[in-house]
Amino acid sequence: MSGIPYFEDVTPAHGTLPPRAWWRTSDAGSLDLGGTWAFRLHDRAPRDAPFRRDGFDPRAAPGWTTLRVPGHWVLQGHGAPAYTNTRYPVPVDPPRVPDENPTGDHRREFDLPATWPDHGSAVLRFDGVESCARVWLNGTDLGSFQGSRLPHEFDVGKLLRRRGNVLAVRVHQWSAGTYLEDQDMWWLPGIFREVTLLHRPPAAVSDVFVHAGYDHRDGTGTLRVDAAPGGRVSVPELGVETATGETVRMPVEPWTAETPRLYDATLRTPGETVPLRLGFRTVVVEDGLLRVNGRRVLFRGVNRHEFHPVTGRTLDVATMRRDVELMKRHHVNAVRTSHYPPHPAFLDLCDELGLWVIDECDLETHGFRHVGWRNNPVDDPRWTPALLDRARRMVERDKNHPSVVMWSLGNECGGGAGLSAMARWMRERDPGRPLHYEGDPAYPDSDVHSRMYAAHEEVDEIGGAEEPGAKPFLLCEYAHAMGNGPGGLTEYQRLFEVHPRCQGGFVWEWIDHGLLRRTADGREYFAYGGDFGEEMHDGNFVCDGLVFPDRTPSPGLTEYAKVVEPVRVTGRGGEDRELTVANLYDFADLSHLAFDWTYAVEGVEVAAGPLDVPPLRAGASGRVRLPPPPDHALGGEAWWTVTARLAADTAWAPRGHRVAWAQVPGPPAPAATAAEPAPVPAGAPRRDGTSVRLGPAVFDARTGALTALGGLPFTDPPRLDVWRAPTDNDEGGARQPGGRTAAQWRQLGLHRVHHRTDAVRLEDGGLTVRTRVAAAGTGLALRTAYRWAADGAGVRLTVTVDPEGDWPCPLPRLGVRFGLPARFGHAEWFGGGPGEGYPDACAAALLGRWRAPVDALQTPYVRPQENGARPGVRWAELRERPDGGTGVRITGAPERFWFSARRWTSEQLDAAAHTTDLTPGDTVWVHLDHAQHGLGSASCGPGVLPAHRLDPAPAVFSLRFTAQFVE
Ligand code: GAL
Repeated sequence: MSGIPYFEDVTPAHGTLPPRAWWRTSDAGSLDLGGTWAFRLHDRAPRDAPFRRDGFDPRAAPGWTTLRVPGHWVLQGHGAPAYTNTRYPVPVDPPRVPDENPTGDHRREFDLPATWPDHGSAVLRFDGVESCARVWLNGTDLGSFQGSRLPHEFDVGKLLRRRGNVLAVRVHQWSAGTYLEDQDMWWLPGIFREVTLLHRPPAAVSDVFVHAGYDHRDGTGTLRVDAAPGGRVSVPELGVETATGETVRMPVEPWTAETPRLYDATLRTPGETVPLRLGFRTVVVEDGLLRVNGRRVLFRGVNRHEFHPVTGRTLDVATMRRDVELMKRHHVNAVRTSHYPPHPAFLDLCDELGLWVIDECDLETHGFRHVGWRNNPVDDPRWTPALLDRARRMVERDKNHPSVVMWSLGNECGGGAGLSAMARWMRERDPGRPLHYEGDPAYPDSDVHSRMYAAHEEVDEIGGAEEPGAKPFLLCEYAHAMGNGPGGLTEYQRLFEVHPRCQGGFVWEWIDHGLLRRTADGREYFAYGGDFGEEMHDGNFVCDGLVFPDRTPSPGLTEYAKVVEPVRVTGRGGEDRELTVANLYDFADLSHLAFDWTYAVEGVEVAAGPLDVPPLRAGASGRVRLPPPPDHALGGEAWWTVTARLAADTAWAPRGHRVAWAQVPGPPAPAATAAEPAPVPAGAPRRDGTSVRLGPAVFDARTGALTALGGLPFTDPPRLDVWRAPTDNDEGGARQPGGRTAAQWRQLGLHRVHHRTDAVRLEDGGLTVRTRVAAAGTGLALRTAYRWAADGAGVRLTVTVDPEGDWPCPLPRLGVRFGLPARFGHAEWFGGGPGEGYPDACAAALLGRWRAPVDALQTPYVRPQENGARPGVRWAELRERPDGGTGVRITGAPERFWFSARRWTSEQLDAAAHTTDLTPGDTVWVHLDHAQHGLGSASCGPGVLPAHRLDPAPAVFSLRFTAQFVE
């Protein structure tokens, strides 16, 4: 490799110190070098013009500007971000990179603080630089390094001056390291994590390795702290005072993700005092199970990339804490740090608030797939030192975190001897943590069997197979949370609960990586691949998270929270007031929860009270009894809601935070008090010029279209509608039999059907309209009859649908849509809410009476698509005001329906690329669906399960319309 520039050198680092543990603070001084730096960008790597030793004086040289460090220059107006999934953004010719190699020169002058001691030495630490840096201090070339999400340190003691130090850093976007960093994310060069100067007193701690195990059989903790140089360790709470290298045993409370018990400790060497936090736990793979402290754990996990919509992979601690809090509040108990070690402060938070962590090495070579895996670095001995360097930098930095329960070699590198070399080194250095690797189906270097996106059926087979010596099974990625979805979470969770060997999974992924941008007129939206003029990109595949880019939880997260909630309450309801409460925690009992009940009739709360639930042990179930139903005079459906809440404040949520809930039906309403008024004799239809009148409804006599109800105009009559703006999951599914669902829909023309009216008749005391709904160019059709009958103060519509022909694919939806004037912008409904739900993603729908403006019924998926349906709706109203005014009420008669309302059509929603492409029109479009097709997870994974498919079949459904005049 000689003769090529350092950034194309497979040797990952020149001049750096050996890797070691990271700690938050110590009594030695440090200087944060973050802030405003001088900066200049080269379009091409200056191969023959070395960065001048003094780093240039920006005042004297042209082309310099300023930049915030830590930060990515492409997010600060210099160059542009680019997104690719698996394809390398450079020609695949390892380890060479193109001449067009954006290179950022960074320069910072600094003085030492007055308190900086004269004795000792100093270390300059870089916590993260993408992708390769060369560093000069006061004119001396310190060396260079690759490994973007890993720390690198230089010894700089002798070079420091009291005043006027000049630190110059040249950063290249592309390097040999790029070939090891083909993660599915934005390419974001820069010094994106902290740069710190650390004072190193004589005999300071150079490294520390805490070994803190727990024996569940007798409750004993074992502690040994290895440190260089040696020193003393004290753990006041345990009365421990010992030397480094010594082993001590004592009774302790163990650390688990559910009960993250940490003990404050101090390590003292002659030169430095470093605070430590100890968590005692033991992780093993035993009898085919991954056990912590003797127990099987179930990962309710997410894959987390570090991302912020403005600062990219530069995250402040408040944002990291927000992630952990949001995870804990949604019952996520595990994180895979896809696909690189996170900022070390994130792991501190995982220790403190309690999350199981699979810490993954900064390694992915996925793009070699496109060249038949030729020259794959993990299978080429020339790269082994670079792979080992990455393994070491991760393990050494993160080895003291109790939250880290497994190391992962990396992601999607295929197989190769380089991975085995990493695994060998890791096993030897840290025998206390099992290894994870998914990319080689033979699993030579993984202690677990790990898969991505396996379908339910396959997980069931794996879970049921009784192979001797089988490894624990994890889904390191599943349930691709792109756009609206994922569907099918409940079914996965049941499999994890049924098969001991299936120890859960990690949803792909935590956050949408949408970058905040503004339209010319100042409206904000989130940008994705292709929005920055990339020559090659993978569109919105970068937006596949459970939270939106601004960390607002998406419906997918609400659903996941419900599916994985740690307490399950079940009961038959009706006259039976018995409930079963199951504690699904792996370690915690229920003493931290307080239970309560409410009793509501048609969504109106009648009574509420506490519910006594014993502090059941982890894994135990018990029976409790609801009180007798309260007396009330209301008519309608009655439901109990039982809720478990935090009984006291925790580090991640306040007292009262909802941890689990369930609903069971109350006793049936006495007939006399039922909500629906007794039907009054139906009025006969009357022709009146060009109109037909039927009860309060007016129709166009020629077309049979409803034009008004009780004086309230319909701008568009209710008509059959089967189209939805395809979701990302509808658009995906190349691997499904039959191919991509949305492509089939478009091929059949479901987005452009015509309605042909065959008959408009006054018959059987009502109005019947017969139609044929079909798209141009196809013989397939849906024969649709609308039968209108007067019904009390309203009018009842019965829709009969008969598919004609041999339909090759499911329908998106089956229902009616109609338009109302824009002023009917307030909704109230009795049904599932408050958020959206779809057939295979509606576990989180809470039956109640909900109100929302139409604008708030929309879920702003980064790429607009079908959204906002409320499931299990008994009735819905659209009104002029939140609390009254004229409106229309639709009641399922008797079926429940899916209710959506929006200010644009499905066709406009389908055409939009970004949220700002949608502008409210003068119509409120209301959808009342008899059925919806499920969501599935086919944007990367299995499609909709058979039970949630909407296959074309004859259907009949009824809806009752009444006009409302509420003052
Ligand atoms: C996986 C990969 C992830 C991501 C995901 C799809 O194959 O490991 O990084 O690309 O697919 O979003």
